[in-house]
This record gives sequence, C-alpha cells and structure tokens, in this order.
Amino acid sequence: MNFLRKIKSRLFRILKSENKISPLEYWESRSKRYGARAVLNLAIKEEEEQSFRKKQIAAIFPHLRKIIRQNDVVLDYGCGVGRFTVGLQKLTEGKVVGVDPIQRFLDMAPKAEHISYLKLKNGILPLEDNTIDIIFICLVLGGIPDSDIGFALKELSRVLKSDGGICLVENTSAYTNHNRWTNRSAQQYKALLPWINLEAVAAYKELEDDITIFVGRKLP
Ligand SMILES: C[S@@+](CC[C@H](N)C(=O)[O-])C[C@H]1O[C@@H](n2cnc3c(N)ncnc32)[C@H](O)[C@@H]1O
Repeated sequence: MNFLRKIKSRLFRILKSENKISPLEYWESRSKRYGARAVLNLAIKEEEEQSFRKKQIAAIFPHLRKIIRQNDVVLDYGCGVGRFTVGLQKLTEGKVVGVDPIQRFLDMAPKAEHISYLKLKNGILPLEDNTIDIIFICLVLGGIPDSDIGFALKELSRVLKSDGGICLVENTSAYTNHNRWTNRSAQQYKALLPWINLEAVAAYKELEDDITIFVGRKLP
C-alpha cells in the first residue's frame, strides 16, 4: 500500500513538473528522452515508423505536387529529425531548408546536397524576407499554443514570396486538447491564415486522430 502511494505521488510530481515547463523545454526534454521518436505519436510502434512515414508521404505529396514548381525553395517548418526533407528535395529538385528550435533534432536529420538545417531562435526564422516559394508544415502548429501562434505565422508570412504556396498538415480532431497539443478545426486554421487561400483538400487517420491536409497560395 505504502509502495503504491509512493508511486502515485512520484507520478503526480512528474506530471506537475511537465505541466510547468515551457513548450520549448517540453520539446528539449522529449528529444533527450526519446531521441528521433520524440517527433512521433509514441503510440506508433517502432517497427511501424517507416511504413507510417510512407503512408504520410502517399497521402500528402500528391497535394503538394499540385503547388510545387521545379527549383522552388522549400521551407520545412518544424522539420524535427527531417523525416520529409529528402522527399521534399526530390519533389522540387531545388533547395530545402529545414528549421526547428531543437538542435538535437537537427543534428539527427539526414544531410544531403541542397538540404540545409537552421535553428529557430525565439520564434524568429533565420531567413530573409520573401525568399521562400513553398512552406511545408507537418504537425507543428498544433504544438504551438494560441499565445505564440500569431508571431509564428507572421514570421512565415514574412519569408514567403508574394506568390508562394503552403502545404499544411494538422490534427483537426474534435476531442479536447491535451496540455501540449492544441487541436484546431479546419475553420480555425483558415481564420489563422487569412493571407492564404487555404483549402482543406484531404484527410487521413493517424491512429485515432483526424489529420487534415491543406494547401493554398498567398493572396495578392
Ligand atoms: C510533432 S513534431 C513534427 C516534426 C516533423 N514535422 C515531422 O512530421 O516529422 C513537432 C516539431 O515542431 C517543433 N517545434 C516546436 N515548437 C516549434 C515552434 N514554435 N516553431 C517551429 N517548430 C516548432 C518541434 O521541435 C518538433 O520537431
């Protein structure tokens, strides 16, 4: 009984301290604890990671292909361990820049010609204005709380060229948000990006979650 009480109070303390840390501290500690798996839903089995990534690519890339042009400069925003950067480079045949606030993730990302990685510091994109043709975002905005999302999107708008495009993939499940993830509806994402003619073009299931794929171009 005493032993159970001790475990319960330890768990309570761990959960309490996890709640207190900032979003960035959360990703830092998650990267340290789980390595490359930290960017995934941990309920996905290790042996299924590759087939899961292939399924994502099969669901997302046909829509991306409709807006990407040869030699487009692509920003993979919140690229994590670069699960998509090589595929993105093959699509554009031009440059791909992966940006993430967690250096440990960037260090694990695949290095190749025309692919570079930059660290996001204080939410500021280390890129010049109007230099990006396509922004790719896969399951990143949901991890940014409402208090910070406005600044993040302003930065994305700053670097995107006037005729640039976006491919956004986010969790739009209706269930209540847990403390580290904010599910937003398709309508909410459209309202957050009024400078893009954002369209929900497809959806797929990730375990129990509803994931929506959006594409759009910057409005004049
Ligand atoms: C669920 S993972 C997805 C990673 C990658 N897009 C993928 O699908 O494999 C979320 C990523 O967003 C990054 N991230 C957290 N806060 C961020 C922010 N404010 N801006 C950009 N990326 C952020 C995390 O470090 C992490 O790599």
